[in-house]
Amino acid sequence: MAAGKGTRMKSALPKVLHRLGGRALLAHVMDCAAQLSARQAVVITGHGAMQVEAACAGRTGAAAGLGLKFARQEPQLGTGHAVQQALPFLDDDGITLVLSGDVPLTQATTLRALLAECDGQRLALLTLSMADPTGYGRIVRAGSQASAQVRAIVEHKDASEAERAIQEIYSGIMAVPTRLLRRWLARLDNKNAQNEYYLTDIVKFAVEGGVAVVAHQITDAAQVAGVNSPVQLAELERVYQQRLATTLMEQGVRLADPARLDVRGTLECGQDVEIDVNCVFEGQVSLGQGVRVGANCVIANAVIEAGAVIHPFTHIDGEKLGVQVGEGALVGPFARLRPGARLGAEVHIGNFVEVKNSTLARGAKANHLAYLGDATVGERVNYGAGSITANYDGANKHRTVIEADVHIGSNCVLVAPVTIGEGGTVGGGSTITKDVPAGALSVARGKQVNQANWSRPAKQAKA
Ligand code: UD1
Ligand code: CA
Repeated sequence: MAAGKGTRMKSALPKVLHRLGGRALLAHVMDCAAQLSARQAVVITGHGAMQVEAACAGRTGAAAGLGLKFARQEPQLGTGHAVQQALPFLDDDGITLVLSGDVPLTQATTLRALLAECDGQRLALLTLSMADPTGYGRIVRAGSQASAQVRAIVEHKDASEAERAIQEIYSGIMAVPTRLLRRWLARLDNKNAQNEYYLTDIVKFAVEGGVAVVAHQITDAAQVAGVNSPVQLAELERVYQQRLATTLMEQGVRLADPARLDVRGTLECGQDVEIDVNCVFEGQVSLGQGVRVGANCVIANAVIEAGAVIHPFTHIDGEKLGVQVGEGALVGPFARLRPGARLGAEVHIGNFVEVKNSTLARGAKANHLAYLGDATVGERVNYGAGSITANYDGANKHRTVIEADVHIGSNCVLVAPVTIGEGGTVGGGSTITKDVPAGALSVARGKQVNQANWSRPAKQAKA
């Protein structure tokens, strides 16, 4: 179910597209469902349907494997009405698992257990006991014992004082034999406090019809927690990040502070990885064995190979082209690696150095205040402080080739396209517009003039 408006988010974006851990809420639900080898998935859309459907269709992850269908619910008349819209897509010999697009942290093992309880013949409800059940549907049982037969779900707004005292709540997730679901949904009405067609009313139909209703109760509240407001979204984000940090530490990753790590995508780590505080990882990031990441780094879509050190305040974003940092390379502090930066082993990139769409071979160094864009840099090249590749002529990008063992002095401009031959030296302050032959020294700047015994102008006395 992903048709609701999500009014309390106070956002133009449909609620189920808000992000948690870098992925849309709905994407979490879809990825979880994809682990269940379902025959198909039907996404019920309504509010912002076009946007939600486009987001689902554009997904490439695990959910791409689901036979995905969309059922439009217009207008949105309640959860029962929502599921009614999906019926034409469902086969009677199957089990329908009802999930909410705004409940992102449910685990596949929990859903498998629920499906086992259903077993094609029972109505299985996922429930939880809460200290403050306000707002939720309550599980009403035939007696006061926890094991007493489930009789109904009563929505908070329709509940009596006594019913409101019940702490066991319905999570919004159920597994139900499709043939029975179809029969029961046909009987729903909207005679209730919200004038909605409640999916939860099918419980009393099951009881009337002698179909067993089982409540599968879990204790992990985060798995059934829904997102209704920015506050709840932020709370669940923290739960998600805390769990992810714990998993990483269990794998041996040493986090300076698990509360100050954010992973918005997937982070793979080799042995003996250390991550200091306030680091953000986005998209697909892999850190090889022994990699150290200093405080306050943002790293997206990058492969950092074994033994590399990323010093504090470094920003790496590979976007679509990716970034690669070779074994034992040193990057930062305050470095910026942009898409297509490929650093070989033992490369050094120092403070205020920007690298974009450039390959640096083993041992090349650019230690201070420099720009390398669209460049191919050979082994052991030393690229001086303040030097830049002028790769853009205002219309097109051009490449700079710096062959092995070249020494580029400080404050040079290499106007691309240009090649500096192997072992060449470029004098500081040069603007290089023509190729430099291998082994040559090139100096391209105004010649120094020394005027002996120069007397500086003296200040004139005011009249
Ligand atoms: C629902 C349950 C309640 C349960 C709670 C758990 C019903 C009647 N009540 O209440 O027992 O404790 O979830 O969170 O089912 N949606 C649609 N179309 C609609 C209405 C809702 O697609 O017409 C979707 C929403 O987008 C959302 C989900 O269904 O993903 C749940 O809707 P919501 O309004 O949040 O349900 P509650 O009233 O909280
Ligand atoms: Ca509602």
